Amino acid sequence: SFPILVAIDGPAGSGKSSVSRAVARRLGFAYLDTGAAYRALAWLVLDRNIDETALSDAAQADAVTALLKDFDYSIGTDPDEYFVTVGQADVTDAIRSPEVSAAVSAVARVPAVRQALTELFRSLAANVDRPGVVVEGRDITTIVAPEAEVRILLTASEEARMTRRSAEITTQSAETVAEQLRSRDRADSQVVDFMSAADGVITVDSTHLDFEQTIEAVIDVIHTRT
Ligand code: C5P
Repeated sequence: SFPILVAIDGPAGSGKSSVSRAVARRLGFAYLDTGAAYRALAWLVLDRNIDETALSDAAQADAVTALLKDFDYSIGTDPDEYFVTVGQADVTDAIRSPEVSAAVSAVARVPAVRQALTELFRSLAANVDRPGVVVEGRDITTIVAPEAEVRILLTASEEARMTRRSAEITTQSAETVAEQLRSRDRADSQVVDFMSAADGVITVDSTHLDFEQTIEAVIDVIHTRT
């Protein structure tokens, strides 16, 4: 039988990744971080010196589409053993760099990229060896798995998101982190709507919840739906 699908979308800094992973761990589910795949491809684009700012240019878009053919990417779906590799390179940490964060939206905007990665996510989610899988991203409730048993939009006020993210990133000033986050959300919003809940999607607002309370709120939703 197919694993129970829990789709979670939301903006950066909503706590999406850490909450999704913790929920998966508690329920014995697998965990799929789709943003990591977009980041891994952006890492490869930078590694190959493709100019991501010129992706609207046909030649550059073709170069990325060609890259997709040998995008030898692998991601851990065990919430306790998370890793991301591209070919022989372990890029688990490298994909979180400011350079990759700055380049990823331009790569994620290419239609052929979204199409290929969406296929990949569907196949990864269908083939986990657990009773369920938490799939987390921006377009999971709407595009990747609109048929998921559980669909959640995890939000938080902009202020709360900026505060959380700048507490995580200590190598840059709070203002720099906030500005980069805002500009990435702005760019991503042009491609997919992850700020408002689609029909049938349940909103969990974590603004006034701590980490543990957010995990519990998400698990409550899962229990009412499964
Ligand atoms: O979730 P995270 O912030 O790591 O995602 C990195 C980037 O990947 C996002 O800024 C967005 O450009 C892209 N993304 C996407 N669709 C998803 C997940 C991530 O376009 N489902």
